Amino acid sequence: LEITWDITAAQKGGFPHFMLKEIYEQPESLRNTITPRIVNSLPDFTEDGIDDEVFKNCENITVIACGTAMHAGIVGKAMIESELRIPVNVEIASEFRYKEPLINEKTLVIVTSQSGETIDTLEAMRLAKRCGSKVISIVNVKGSTIARESDYVLYTHAGPEIAVASTKAYSVQMAAMYLIGCRLGLVKGIYSEEQAKEFISKLLGTIPVIEETLLQADEVKTVANYIKMAPDAFFIGRGMDYTLSLEGALKLKEISYVHAEAYAAGELKHGTIALITENVPVIALATQPAVYEKMVSNIREVKARGAYVILISMGDEVTDTQICDKHIRIPKQDSLFTVFAAAVILQLIAYYTSDAKGLDVDKPRNLAKSVTVE
Ligand code: AGP
Repeated sequence: LEITWDITAAQKGGFPHFMLKEIYEQPESLRNTITPRIVNSLPDFTEDGIDDEVFKNCENITVIACGTAMHAGIVGKAMIESELRIPVNVEIASEFRYKEPLINEKTLVIVTSQSGETIDTLEAMRLAKRCGSKVISIVNVKGSTIARESDYVLYTHAGPEIAVASTKAYSVQMAAMYLIGCRLGLVKGIYSEEQAKEFISKLLGTIPVIEETLLQADEVKTVANYIKMAPDAFFIGRGMDYTLSLEGALKLKEISYVHAEAYAAGELKHGTIALITENVPVIALATQPAVYEKMVSNIREVKARGAYVILISMGDEVTDTQICDKHIRIPKQDSLFTVFAAAVILQLIAYYTSDAKGLDVDKPRNLAKSVTVE
């Protein structure tokens, strides 16, 4: 018997890299995060030991995290503020820890960390506790320091994330934020039971939508072959799409070394559009019907300057195919939930670009999976 694979390859389950494996694991990871917290079709944290008092007392929310985990917080902010009208502040942990924070016992602090060991996040959490705030942590690694020291922990149960670039941990962090938002809305009487049930059903609905989205991987690969030649790329979007574009740009930078920036699409004309010239890739997220026409105008502006536009939109709303060079569609759904499927497209763009450049996808230069030093 000749064994032609090593143990690491076996752990990759047939995928060439951990990152791709972890991208494909997202439906299962989301199921593991969401389903244990659904009782009678409603969000329920009894098993996690989270007391509803924490939601009753909360007048505002501060999310503290770094990198991708912080980006999940920005998505959570957009969702909670628009749905519940409760103010959410997202703080970069390394900044927060040296501030005199504007939080108190009425602030619910949500600390988000895949590893549960990021030193800046940990120290920021300790400071938040000293200010009298209650802390719920959203953590993947069981028994990690942040999980142990927070008042309450929501484990994301995504399974081990090996690739330095976070993918499935990001999706489940967003899902945990959505669950918290839904429970908070219910406890505060902002959502009726019916509304909360509908929310949960849409959240669960993102799982088959992601499965469908993953079928487009080959399509996304063709985009990567274009982006790999570019020194710079821009991600633009409005509303929820803008919050997601921040993560798309980070992912591309960290593993493909293509300089990337995320911009609120309406902000381009305040400076950045000067950088849009012939063939610059612009990844335009346009999944939000309320601002769709505004996005189309922004796309026309960059297209007129020669940009190579990769449009990510929902369903079949695009009528003028001339506005883009490449069009990737995600399935039609409620606009509050498109971030989950669109995130998968952005992760695949970064993955295939890095791979097409022959880079070490799972271990990008200068980066560690867990940042335990300042
Ligand atoms: C994500 O791709 C990065 N590797 C990085 O931004 C990461 O999310 C950040 O360092 C925070 O890590 P944590 O979730 O383990 O705290």
